[in-house]
Parts: sequence; structure tokens; C-alpha cells
Amino acid sequence: MTTLTLQPSGKTFEFEAGANLLQTILAAGEQLVSKCGGVAKCGACHVFVKEGRKGVSKLTPDENAKLDSLVGVGSKSRLACQVTLLGTEPVTVELLGALSGF
Ligand code: FES
Repeated sequence: MTTLTLQPSGKTFEFEAGANLLQTILAAGEQLVSKCGGVAKCGACHVFVKEGRKGVSKLTPDENAKLDSLVGVGSKSRLACQVTLLGTEPVTVELLGALSGF
């Protein structure tokens, strides 16, 4: 078990290695929009991985292509639906709310 911290709420959760980031966030009771069912098509699940980037899976070509089409993307941007939590180190994710996916 490793720790996932969500910002701006500051809530912290435990997760199992191999868990999907979007599903983990939703299971924790946080709000994160998923309009495409988690297949890297809508961009609504855009988040920033602020800490623990070695604790998440690498960017996929589909994810990279979708991120290229979004506004407000930075070096820490990821699509939560495409991220696997590796369990190798704690991870901190910023939920972007109204900025997400548009
Ligand atoms: S849920 Fe649509 S891109 Fe992640």
C-alpha cells in the first residue's frame, strides 16, 4: 500500500499497486469527470501529477496525443484514466476542477 494525496483538498488515501488513478480518485469519493469512459478521448480527467512521478506509469501515445489537444497542459499533466499507480512511491495529484479537459 502506498499513499495518494489529492490537492486542493489535501485528502490522503491508500492504494494498491496496479490501481488505475481515475478509479482510485472516484472510489475515494472525489469528483473527476470522465466523459469517454476512460479511453483517452475526452480529456476531462486531466490532472497534474505534482509529486511521485516515478510512482505512476509512463505516458502512452494515445494519452500524449490527447494532451496535445488540451488547453492548460504542462509538464505534470496526465489523463487520470490512463495512469496506473505503481506503488513505488507516494503520489500527489492536483485535481483541476473547472480547468479540466477544456
Ligand atoms: S476519461 Fe476521457 S480521457 Fe480520461
